[in-house]
Amino acid sequence: MPTWLKDAVFYEIYPQSFYDTNGDGIGDCNGIIEKLDYIQDLGCNALWINPCFDSPFKDAGYDVRDYKKVAPRYGTNQDLCRLFEEAHRKGIHVLLDLVPGHTSEEHAWFLESQKAEHNAYSNRYIWTSHCFQPVKGYPYIGGECERNGTYMLNFFKCQPALNYGFLTCEEDWQLPTDHPDCLATREAMKDVMRFWLDRGCDGFRVDMAVSLVKNDDENKSGTCAIWRNVREMLDREYPQAALISEWGDPQKALKAGFHMDFYLNGGDDGYTSLMRDYSPVEYPPQKEDRSFFRKNGGGDINRFLEKYVPNYTSTKQDGYYCLITCNHDTVRPRYNLDERELKIAYAFLFTMPGVPFLYYGDEIGMRYLRLSTKEGGYYRTGSRTPMQWTSGKNAGFSTSAADALYLPVDPAADAPNVASQETDANSLLNTVKALLSLRHAQEDLQADAEFEVIYAEHDALPFVYRRGKILIALNPSTETVSAPVDAAGRNEIFAIGRGKAANGKITLEPQSFLVLK
Ligand code: NOJ
Repeated sequence: MPTWLKDAVFYEIYPQSFYDTNGDGIGDCNGIIEKLDYIQDLGCNALWINPCFDSPFKDAGYDVRDYKKVAPRYGTNQDLCRLFEEAHRKGIHVLLDLVPGHTSEEHAWFLESQKAEHNAYSNRYIWTSHCFQPVKGYPYIGGECERNGTYMLNFFKCQPALNYGFLTCEEDWQLPTDHPDCLATREAMKDVMRFWLDRGCDGFRVDMAVSLVKNDDENKSGTCAIWRNVREMLDREYPQAALISEWGDPQKALKAGFHMDFYLNGGDDGYTSLMRDYSPVEYPPQKEDRSFFRKNGGGDINRFLEKYVPNYTSTKQDGYYCLITCNHDTVRPRYNLDERELKIAYAFLFTMPGVPFLYYGDEIGMRYLRLSTKEGGYYRTGSRTPMQWTSGKNAGFSTSAADALYLPVDPAADAPNVASQETDANSLLNTVKALLSLRHAQEDLQADAEFEVIYAEHDALPFVYRRGKILIALNPSTETVSAPVDAAGRNEIFAIGRGKAANGKITLEPQSFLVLK
């Protein structure tokens, strides 16, 4: 286990929209370098950067054309290596985004693979043996290539599936996972990892980590075996490199060798009940939003805990199950939570076990904007707008003309920005800073310390939990509430709003959060 994860707090950067230093309307590597002091001051000591590699950008870079080349719009490989160096100088680790399940249809491997004549890349992707033959149970494309066959897709049309083999082969064109050409795909992905690790990167966020082996069983044993093999390589060659999976199933991902697995939005994992109790594709929400952190939502923390606790308990020895404020695929939490509600929600996220992830802009409460799709974003586009640094031109993101921006900045007169929140002691930004500095100062609030539910009722607040020797109580509602929890002898070390512990009770005023040691 990389030791630096114990006190890591990640900042996710969508590079398109973070900071533009050359005035072309899109963010770049140098922009991230310029803002490292900001990130450090915020209290984040690790980055996850969404794919920044050469790509036709039909899926925002998740359609990689060259894994070993930085997309020219972000700069050069040297710029990215300088980012690693400058980040390390400030004690910040950097994860890149590895997309192992598919490439762009413009990747050199695919251009070879689609040729009629057999070659070294013919089996790098999954092809049937005839141009009219379907790929049963998976999306596929026919009629576009020289080769007499159809090929399997892993996501959008632009993303043909790489071939790691089938756990059970049902057709003659399906190869087993130990076929030399399938092992070659795995080795090619390790080669990509070594390429960036050798240049100073600290690990990877792994896209669609569950998607490698086809016809996999319920336990995903084919895919898990590949990740265990990758982890062995890391343990041997890069023991401080970290891997986090986009999987949302820690009982599989962490046992397969990932150090961390993400809580994802949309699954049946309880996460949506915290802040997003609505469907991201339904506008306006079709049902009542009972998100736990809405002050009038009447939510129930048990909807989360019932899923979280068994996952946490059964995997805490293996790695970290990680909570996020949001990500580039998720509607920003500011969509349905106001600033005070966000403060309480973040206070919870940043005092839980595992390694927290903060999505750029959530620290100032950037809004979700209704925009038409960009680079395959669809509804996700609204969470990918330029970072709002100042109240000046283009929110301080870029000096380009407004119509040349990658996406428009939030046009609202009261759109939040970093500069104004920095000078307001009560701002969301300063609350995030205070929370992260509390986390860094208290080992019991970091990744490893034990978590225990102390008080969580279906129809009553507050919610009280313990981290190591620290007791935490929170009340997202507009009522004053109390719980029969004896906190005698403890002192308050942090609070949002007001609460007190006396006479065998913890009492919290409306929308409050209390940390007792
Ligand atoms: C998950 C990524 O987070 C998403 O943005 C992307 O579109 C798909 N995987 C396909 O790579």
